[in-house]
Amino acid sequence: MANRAEELDPDVCCIDDLKSRASVQLPQMYRDYYNEGPMDLLTLRDNEAAFDRYKIRPKILVDVNYIDTSSELFGTKVSFPLGLSPTAMHKLAHPDGEVATSRAAAATGISMVLSSYSTCSIEDATAQGLEIPYAMQMCVLKDRKITLHLEARRGGCKALFLSVDNAVLGKRLNEFRNKFELPVDMTWPNILSHSSVHSDGVYYDAGMNLEETIPWLRDNSNLQIWLKGVNRADDVQLAIKLGLDGIVISNHGGRQLDGVPATLDVLRECAPIATGKVHLAIDSGIRRGSDISKALALDASHCFIGRAAVWGLAKGVELGIKILLQELRITMALAGCRSIKDIDSSFLSVLQPNGILAKL
Ligand SMILES: Cc1cc2nc3c(=O)[nH]c(=O)nc-3n(C[C@H](O)[C@H](O)[C@H](O)COP(=O)(O)O)c2cc1C
Repeated sequence: MANRAEELDPDVCCIDDLKSRASVQLPQMYRDYYNEGPMDLLTLRDNEAAFDRYKIRPKILVDVNYIDTSSELFGTKVSFPLGLSPTAMHKLAHPDGEVATSRAAAATGISMVLSSYSTCSIEDATAQGLEIPYAMQMCVLKDRKITLHLEARRGGCKALFLSVDNAVLGKRLNEFRNKFELPVDMTWPNILSHSSVHSDGVYYDAGMNLEETIPWLRDNSNLQIWLKGVNRADDVQLAIKLGLDGIVISNHGGRQLDGVPATLDVLRECAPIATGKVHLAIDSGIRRGSDISKALALDASHCFIGRAAVWGLAKGVELGIKILLQELRITMALAGCRSIKDIDSSFLSVLQPNGILAKL
């Protein structure tokens, strides 16, 4: 039918369909590991619900015959401001693991952040996409030699994403109930090939502080350094003071501390501090193209997805990314935005408890 968007797949029309598809395919232990989080899943649910609290205010009679969704990250052009968040162990969902995910990022021209706990080597994954921006996620581990070894394995990455929200793991009830364990042949080639690995050294350094860690990392790497997992305005100020290149407002997709606010609400608080001083990105809860537009309107320059890509491994990561791009394009056309830079806070309102729409 004229004007209707192209059908990308007869069975999968949106990310929720992709989730359903993946959920029936995966064994319960891994399905719950991907889909759930700690304790009562309050933050996980609120991450998604927050996007529904913001309403789009379309501008009429804008010529939207041509829409440009392109953007950039680490100075490299991307087809739209979306990237893959680092998620561990893609081989649990597909035998090709991160190589498959990376291929999809390359085919669609978006960015990708690889987890330290990738089940393919960083080099194999980044070899899939010579044109797209990659970053590598790191945790500072007790054995700094392993941390440095990871830095050295950075392949074609342009940035390090230092995760700062996992001093310990959140209490994920599903992992206890399902007696979660990894297949015996599962490996983390970017960590465990290091000769000095001994069991304690691969644990997170719960005593890490940024004033010491960032200069140390700068001495040992010339990549951009971003913090992933920032949730407070004073930590944004600290990141600016330490000269970091970027920040990802993230709560690990509601997988760490249950009860923290939705990232979209945190973004709204933090963006005025960050704007013009440090790059600001967001993840957690993004399931639709319109969600991306809302984050951009609140001044994020880039969005990342975790679970949506992992669910894609069951049916097609590329399909999931194309669905989000299609939905973003439709949102932009209907809202009257011709380019990414046109999307600003004038396009959003929030519904107040008294029923009145408030401009931001
Ligand atoms: C299965 C899974 C594994 C993850 N592994 C990591 C990881 O190794 N390192 C990390 O910094 N974040 C990890 N995350 C968090 C993601 O990077 C991201 O913050 C989160 O998934 C975004 O929320 P969303 O899933 O709602 O899109 C993981 C998330 C999931 C779902």
